[in-house]
Amino acid sequence: MNPKNEQEQVVLVTGAAGGIGAAIAELAVARGHRVMLTDVDEVAVVSRARSLGPRAAACMLDIRSSAGWTRAFEAAEAVFGGVDVLVNNAGITHTRVARDLPEQQHRDIVEVNLLGTITGVCTALERMTARGRGHIINVCSMTSFLPLPGYATYCASKFGLRAFHHSVAIEERDGPLDFTLIHPPSTRTGMLAQEMADPSCAIAFAEKSYAPQRIARAVVDAIATKPVEVVFPPLAGRVQRIAGVFPRLMRRVIPVAEARGLRQRERLLSHSDAHR
Ligand SMILES: NC(=O)c1ccc[n+]([C@@H]2O[C@H](COP(=O)([O-])OP(=O)(O)OC[C@H]3O[C@@H](n4cnc5c(N)ncnc54)[C@H](O)[C@@H]3O)[C@@H](O)[C@H]2O)c1
Repeated sequence: MNPKNEQEQVVLVTGAAGGIGAAIAELAVARGHRVMLTDVDEVAVVSRARSLGPRAAACMLDIRSSAGWTRAFEAAEAVFGGVDVLVNNAGITHTRVARDLPEQQHRDIVEVNLLGTITGVCTALERMTARGRGHIINVCSMTSFLPLPGYATYCASKFGLRAFHHSVAIEERDGPLDFTLIHPPSTRTGMLAQEMADPSCAIAFAEKSYAPQRIARAVVDAIATKPVEVVFPPLAGRVQRIAGVFPRLMRRVIPVAEARGLRQRERLLSHSDAHR
């Protein structure tokens, strides 16, 4: 895409201190947008914004906080003017099979990935509708199509997010807002490093992983092209969607993929040991 064809937008990104969110902020600035980076990690997000120059600013936002969302929108409005695009990217995972995960960690995943994102969408709906325009981009996951072992509650939070996203988009179909849902596959960030530490979610390594910059490209392209939903990889992603529809098929193919993921994880671990 030719960056010159893109109209400059004010973009608010959550979880922008690191990983996919930082890559989105960096590319959006490079494409001429003005970006309010937000994160629960204030020190890291402020430093990240400073490294991006005058088209970037930062503010602390824990997406679980409704008051925090209001402050973040107000901060963006004060620095750059009204928010044109919200990229709801922040998310967490806690790995381990469900029976071994402490109850609080099950709750935390839902509080951040689902309820936190819902709070952000509701804040944006009100403020963007009042301005007569806006685009909400939610970063979801391929696990919203295909439930995976080692991540049960994470998958549930992303299944819920996909349902919420499309329900709202349909409710708002006659309004002025656009809605895009992006589904990253395994992406090389702190989250994937966390998954590497736990063999219960080795399925994360069954397929090739992506650089965060590749996901960022899809998100920033979406600011101009406004697709309804983006899956990765474009072709194999469709196969995963189909497998998720048929439970018997799912029960057969997932253990095969899990075994491949375990082998691949061992290979990656021994490779990194060899380079120490
Ligand atoms: N990495 C992957 O393999 C992968 C795959 C599919 C989907 N995703 C999704 O992509 C998004 C980004 O993931 P990532 O891999 O960059 O993760 P990451 O852990 O590298 O970064 C997440 C960022 O979110 C911030 N954050 C955590 N809790 C927060 C909260 N309550 N409020 C605000 N910020 C908070 C963290 O401080 C961090 O900067 C998430 O929604 C994740 O579920 C990631």
